[in-house]
Amino acid sequence: MKVFITRIISQAGIQLMKKNGIEFTQWEEKRDLTQEELIATCQNYDALISVGQDKIDKHFLNSCKHLKTVAQMAVGFDNIDIAEATKLKIPIGNTPGVLSAATADTAFLLMLAVSRKAIFQHKRILRGEWGFYEPTANLGIELYGKTLGIYGLGKIGFELAVRCRNAYNMKVVYCNRNPNPLADQELEAKKMSFDELLAQSDVLSVNTALTPETKGIFNLDAFRKMKKNAIFINTARGGIHNEPDLIKALEDGMIWGAGLDVTNPEPMLPDNPLLEMPNVAVFPHIGSATEETRNAMSRLAAENIVAAYKRERLLHLVNPEVYNG
Ligand code: GLV
Repeated sequence: MKVFITRIISQAGIQLMKKNGIEFTQWEEKRDLTQEELIATCQNYDALISVGQDKIDKHFLNSCKHLKTVAQMAVGFDNIDIAEATKLKIPIGNTPGVLSAATADTAFLLMLAVSRKAIFQHKRILRGEWGFYEPTANLGIELYGKTLGIYGLGKIGFELAVRCRNAYNMKVVYCNRNPNPLADQELEAKKMSFDELLAQSDVLSVNTALTPETKGIFNLDAFRKMKKNAIFINTARGGIHNEPDLIKALEDGMIWGAGLDVTNPEPMLPDNPLLEMPNVAVFPHIGSATEETRNAMSRLAAENIVAAYKRERLLHLVNPEVYNG
C-alpha cells in the first residue's frame, strides 16, 4: 500500500506506518497542491492522508475512486463530501478526542488575551507607545463569575467549560441539538435556545462543526442580540461567523471583543481591520498546534491507514454506513 500525505506530519504516525511496512510520500513544498495536482498525484497511491483543507469534493472523489481510504488529520471534515465518499464506499477517517484539550487551551488563551487586550498591548510596545502610565487607560474586563456560552458543546467545549469553571467559577450555558448530560451533571451546565445563548453569554465560544446549519450563523442579527460587553471566540471554523458582520459589530459596539483562531478566508489578509482593534486577538489556526497533540493526531491518522491496509474497519471513522451491505 502506498500512501500520499499532503503535508509533512509528526513522527508518531510516520513511525507507525514504517513499522507496518507501509510506503508513503509526504508533500514537502510549502504551498497547497491544487486539486488537479492532488488528483493526478493520487493516481499513483492507494490511500491519502489529508492534512488541512484539501478539497475532497465530488470531483476529487470521483476522480480517485480507487482510494482505500481518506484519513483526515483533523477532527473537522467540512472539506470532504462525506455523502459522496459513502456512495463510492470510501471510508473517511478523522482524529477526534486527542485535540480537545489543546484546542480548549487555545480558546481559553484567546478569551484571556481579548479580556486584557494583550495582543494590542504588545503591539503598542513595538510601536514605542508604552510611554505615560495612565490609571484609566488600557483597561480590560474580568472574567470571574461571568457566564460562558458554548455554541456546540462537544469534547472541546467541555474542556473549555472545565477550564472556565475551575479558573473563574464561570456559569456554563450551551446551545446544542442534543443535551450533554455529563456537562449538565459535572458543570451544572444549562442547555438553551440560540437566542437565549446570545442574550446570556458574557463569553460566547463557538465549538461546533461547519455545516449548512451553522454556516454564517454568527451574523449581524446574532451579534445584535448579544451583550454589549460580550467576547466572541471562534476556534472552530471561520465560515461559522460572517467576518464583515463581526467587524461591524465590533466597530458599532454591539459586542466588546473577539478572539479568533479561525478566519474567513484563511489566511487572514494583513490589512484586515480586526488586526488593529484593541479588543481583538487573532491566531493563525493553531488550535491543536502542540508537540503532543500533533503527534497524537498523526498517530490516529496512521492507525486509520493501517486498518485500511489490513482491510479492517477504520478505528476513527466518520462514515460507518460505508461498511453496510
Ligand atoms: C482543525 O482545525 C481540526 O479540525 O482538527
